[in-house]
Amino acid sequence: MESKPKKLADFCRDCSEGLAGLEDNDARIDFVTSIFEPLLADAPLFREILENVLEGRPYPDVRHPTMFDNELILHLDPAGRFSLRMFLWPPGGFDPVHDHNSWGVIGPVNGRLKVRDFRRRDEDDDAPGYFTGVMEIGRRIILPGMSYRVLPLNEGIHQTGNPTDSTVIQVSIYGKKQSDRSYVNIYDEASGRIYPLYSPPVRKRMLAEQALEALAAEKTST
Ligand SMILES: [Fe+2]
Repeated sequence: MESKPKKLADFCRDCSEGLAGLEDNDARIDFVTSIFEPLLADAPLFREILENVLEGRPYPDVRHPTMFDNELILHLDPAGRFSLRMFLWPPGGFDPVHDHNSWGVIGPVNGRLKVRDFRRRDEDDDAPGYFTGVMEIGRRIILPGMSYRVLPLNEGIHQTGNPTDSTVIQVSIYGKKQSDRSYVNIYDEASGRIYPLYSPPVRKRMLAEQALEALAAEKTST
């Protein structure tokens, strides 16, 4: 049985109830920021969660599939209004430049979190493999007690990571999906190429579908 720390369970309940009546992303982000920053300041809570991981306890479930391999799911709102995730960044670890399908609020529990913001050089909405460029429009260091707001799709292209020489704990809240995509876009800074990143279960279903098509094609050609 999952055993979530009570403080975290209370936070998740408050977050879900507060989001229920909010109709736009600014209001959602403002509300979440107001309760999220105090949560981030609770280092003992995150220490308990990390000790659970180390001890192999049921919560959090490290087997739950995620987009990135340094990511752990802390909570999925039963009403689908948000998810709460933890990212563990080793020294010098950064994700690729990417976008999101939803709004979000992120922040570090310890250390320093670096965020770089980008804009596309074109506004083509969805063209995997398309050649474009991204330009950096800002960078900042997020300290414990502070947070950073993420906007969906082209409004929120960014890169996050750890510029320090010790591991950084990042916690993120992401809202309900606001796109019909089953992937996020990754922007390769050097080449300008965009490519889709799928979660492992989606990727496996796609490959299974393609494999079945290949089998069917072989059958009809023999
Ligand atoms: Fe992100």
